[in-house]
Amino acid sequence: MLSRTLTIEIARVTEAAAIAAAHWRGRGDEKQADQAAVDAMRQALNRILDMDGLVVIGEGERDEAPMLYIGEKVGSGTGQRIDIALDPLEGTTLCAKAMPNAIACVAMADGGSLLHAPDTYMDKIAIGGGYPDGTVDLDLPPAENIRRLAKAKGVTPRDITACILDRPRHEALIAAVRSTDASITLITDGDVAGVIHTATPDETGIDIYMGIGGAPEGVLAAAALRCIGGQMQGRLVTKSEEQKARARKMGIEDFHRKFSMQEMAKGDVMFAATGVTTGSMLEGVHFEPGYVTTETVVMRSATGTVRWIKNRRKSAE
Ligand code: FBP
Repeated sequence: MLSRTLTIEIARVTEAAAIAAAHWRGRGDEKQADQAAVDAMRQALNRILDMDGLVVIGEGERDEAPMLYIGEKVGSGTGQRIDIALDPLEGTTLCAKAMPNAIACVAMADGGSLLHAPDTYMDKIAIGGGYPDGTVDLDLPPAENIRRLAKAKGVTPRDITACILDRPRHEALIAAVRSTDASITLITDGDVAGVIHTATPDETGIDIYMGIGGAPEGVLAAAALRCIGGQMQGRLVTKSEEQKARARKMGIEDFHRKFSMQEMAKGDVMFAATGVTTGSMLEGVHFEPGYVTTETVVMRSATGTVRWIKNRRKSAE
């Protein structure tokens, strides 16, 4: 079981990254925005006492990421062994262009509980809670998934909205979903939030997330959905030998394996996200003379708690 005190520590970590990135909102510089978030998140993680943290989803592999690389140890190095999946700035382009829904996010779980996913793509499908197990399945045709979800919800496919990343690779998927009469919310970036949105369809208008995005983001999204309830499956998309080698390095031999949400994030899991830019889930960082305000959501699977934290504090400058 995770220590309850991590609830506040995890929020401090995403708050720090979000504030640092927010200084780069709308400045057209994705790299600087990301670097600022990484530096701040790393510092905040290393301030956590009594945590022997291991980055399992990070900024990349050791040889390509100087900080928060996969395998980096963070925290005091004493106490509980914790797996950490992180994305200091999820939606670097959204931040650089000051567009909605850029977030800083982290998931924590007992050591050995999070899937070590390589930095490749992942095909994903996710729906919110309250449906029978197996309502949708990555192996079914997209139109069939929409029809099955509509039936389970007691509506027609026309009343279903799917969230899909707006990418040329999704042309066939989009056509298949549209053939059912369902509606599609296309997003330019940020599929962690896209998956989370399926948990509260009455608020977000999104019933299902479908399509290919980053594998690391898949694990983060699975951790979040574990906390708030829902169903998700993911399958790595490894196109080159180099990508397969990356997957092997993480201990994945079967590249076609379909991972369930529980396989991606086991046991007691915590997830936190702080808004960088204002979006459908969170307010962005607000600066005013001498003060900074952030909005963070912290979720935990063991209790199903979803805690919203609005934090106004003196700014460092
Ligand atoms: P970054 O913050 O790393 O830019 O990721 C944004 C994102 O939109 C993710 O949410 C998504 O999983 C991935 O990029 C999709 O990758 P691509 O832009 O290559 O289609």
